[in-house]
Amino acid sequence: MKVCVLGAAGGIGQPLSLLLKLQLPAGSSLSLYDVAPFTPGVAVDLSHIPTDVKVSGFVGDDVEAAMQDADVVVIPAGVPRKPGMTRDDLFNVNAGIVRNLIGVGAKACPKACFAIVTNPVNSTVPIAAEVLKAAGVYDKRKLFGVTTLDVIRSITFVAEAAGKSVDDVRVDVIGGHSGVTILPLLSSIAGVELSKAQIEALTPRIQEAGTEVVEAKAGAGSATLSMAQAAARFIGSLVSALNGKSVTECCYVQIGEDSRSFHAQPVVLGRNGVESIPALPALSDYEQQLLDDMRATLDGNISKGIEFANS
Ligand code: 2OP
Repeated sequence: MKVCVLGAAGGIGQPLSLLLKLQLPAGSSLSLYDVAPFTPGVAVDLSHIPTDVKVSGFVGDDVEAAMQDADVVVIPAGVPRKPGMTRDDLFNVNAGIVRNLIGVGAKACPKACFAIVTNPVNSTVPIAAEVLKAAGVYDKRKLFGVTTLDVIRSITFVAEAAGKSVDDVRVDVIGGHSGVTILPLLSSIAGVELSKAQIEALTPRIQEAGTEVVEAKAGAGSATLSMAQAAARFIGSLVSALNGKSVTECCYVQIGEDSRSFHAQPVVLGRNGVESIPALPALSDYEQQLLDDMRATLDGNISKGIEFANS
């Protein structure tokens, strides 16, 4: 399995590359690309860790070489938020970065699974879809927005509130990956009964958890370490699935035939990427209301991405 990280020398890219070096199956290779000139150094640094994962580093014009024949491409490249910014405020810079990188991937590794971390995920994933479509290589089973950070945050906060071990808590998060589009399903967690007051306090906390980190870092960026762990978990599940073990993860994918039907929800991953998308569990009235209310925002984010890609 060849896994390529684009943006590998950045705040998310470095810890993500470390986690992948530690967890990818023996015999895998890890290809690291970034515009930062020291990227080959990051690869050399990681290569001294004794795991059976071969690491190589690429910089500058070598993005195509980095992606050549990759099975999985994960993209954390881009700029992070500063206090006061929404993820959508990153659109002008990050949309172009994703468009260009996916354009190269369409040639270098057209059959790869592409996992996008770069914000605003609600828009960058539809951009990637349009670029792959224009190149004639789009497979909706193989394009993902990584929303796992919303899941791991939910597990942490719910376990704390319910006095449970994090190992005993599993939470699905649906919708998208920003503000009101993040909808944790807190009414149907197996083995956990939260009160209405707890649900109504935890939901906005989870929706705004990224902002909590941005404000705490006071201008130095957004979540990097927890984001790296979340992306490593998702890529680990995806690699296991591609190797034949069916795994369920929440992620942001095209759920229907309509090219605007992007949505995060639990997805069964298999040998070819998305294997099936189970129906959503029954929602509480509160969750259904939030799902209905987010629709316009999510649709706007998707349209913005599609229009950009086709402009
Ligand atoms: C977050 O939720 C960086 O979008 C990421 O913190």
